[in-house]
Amino acid sequence: MLDATAGPAYLKIENLWKAFGDFLALSDVSLDIQEGEFVCFLGPSGCGKTTLLRAIAGLDLQTKGSVHQGGKDVSNLPPSQRDFGIVFQSYALFPNLTIEKNIAFGLENTGRKKPEIEARVTELLGLVGLEEQRKKYPAQLSGGQQQRIALARAIATNPGLLLLDEPLSALDAKVRVFLRHEIKKLQRQLGVTTVMVTHDQEEALSMADRIVVINHGRVEQIGTPTEIYRHPSSLFVAGFIGDMNQFEATAGVGDRVSCGGAELECAPHSFERGAKVTMAIRPEDVIPHGAEPGEADASGGVETQANTLNVTVTEMEFLGSYWRCRLANERFGREPLFANFSMNAVRRLDLREGKDMMIELPKSRVMVFDAGEV
Ligand SMILES: Nc1ncnc2c1ncn2[C@@H]1O[C@H](COP(=O)(O)OP(=O)(O)OP(=O)(O)O)[C@@H](O)[C@H]1O
Ligand SMILES: [Mg+2]
Repeated sequence: MLDATAGPAYLKIENLWKAFGDFLALSDVSLDIQEGEFVCFLGPSGCGKTTLLRAIAGLDLQTKGSVHQGGKDVSNLPPSQRDFGIVFQSYALFPNLTIEKNIAFGLENTGRKKPEIEARVTELLGLVGLEEQRKKYPAQLSGGQQQRIALARAIATNPGLLLLDEPLSALDAKVRVFLRHEIKKLQRQLGVTTVMVTHDQEEALSMADRIVVINHGRVEQIGTPTEIYRHPSSLFVAGFIGDMNQFEATAGVGDRVSCGGAELECAPHSFERGAKVTMAIRPEDVIPHGAEPGEADASGGVETQANTLNVTVTEMEFLGSYWRCRLANERFGREPLFANFSMNAVRRLDLREGKDMMIELPKSRVMVFDAGEV
């Protein structure tokens, strides 16, 4: 992984604003991307991901702010004078041109000779694993194949920056997962700085070196996938990425929170005692009491002495690799707590609907957020 703090940024976005009439699509976005980094813009529909990508490409100019690429101010340059390749959600290949002509298209305006272009097209077809398809037309390829051609076309001229706007979202689930790996492998091999827009958290978590979480045109958090998942900086990020139980609670001092009648230890926070907060914990971090190592889904290394609660299993749903259990606790009031338990734990503890059991909420996994954030 690249160190995001090392050296000057390859792509530097500073205080970028974008208004469409009265509507603010981007508010004061600042962001540094290092050379060779794979960054995902992640956020709900309409949050401004595409708008930010289009500003980087010069396809839509920002209202205010600047974009520097490779140390050069490109803020007001047209797309043709910027150095990027782009892939959109829809394949956007020329239907009347063969695959090889589609890929060669951008190369033909660069003054390269015909044999050189042919050799480059062959190399690119090899890179995306579609050598056999060169004489076909786009309509004769599957969606996944067309998107690989679009990728080959985008990198044909060796751009400094690869921009991908939801390139996988039109594909079915299996192809999507396969292409995730292919794109990531190709990106590593070429070392090309890449920005990919997605609203799919799994895609972002599995592909990105760093994720930029966007909400309502603002950057909510920037971090590695594990930072974003483990240490969400707001309730929005916590709830948008992964599953999260949420309860109304009251802050205690330092690393305490009370929820209903339960006094819990939690990850350190800076709320004042008595502040209304939201307490949150992920379902996979709830540990069934008496579970042996490996049976709890919480990843290792968490302390488990404090924070035990009696609960009743009210519903169990089998989800293949684990059970999603709905737990009731009189002290948390009416809100149920969801927990993911492994099949081994369920079998060994003989968990069934209606059964009373004890759970542990590991201190470091109990998070506290501002109650009024979302
Ligand atoms: N040309 C435009 N004119 C007016 N409003 C626009 C224009 N383009 C985008 N918007 C608005 O700006 C906001 C951000 O749009 P954008 O396309 O960037 O969202 P997005 O995060 O890419 O969403 P999605 O995941 O649905 O693609 C939306 O509310 C959208 O309606
Ligand atoms: Mg979009």
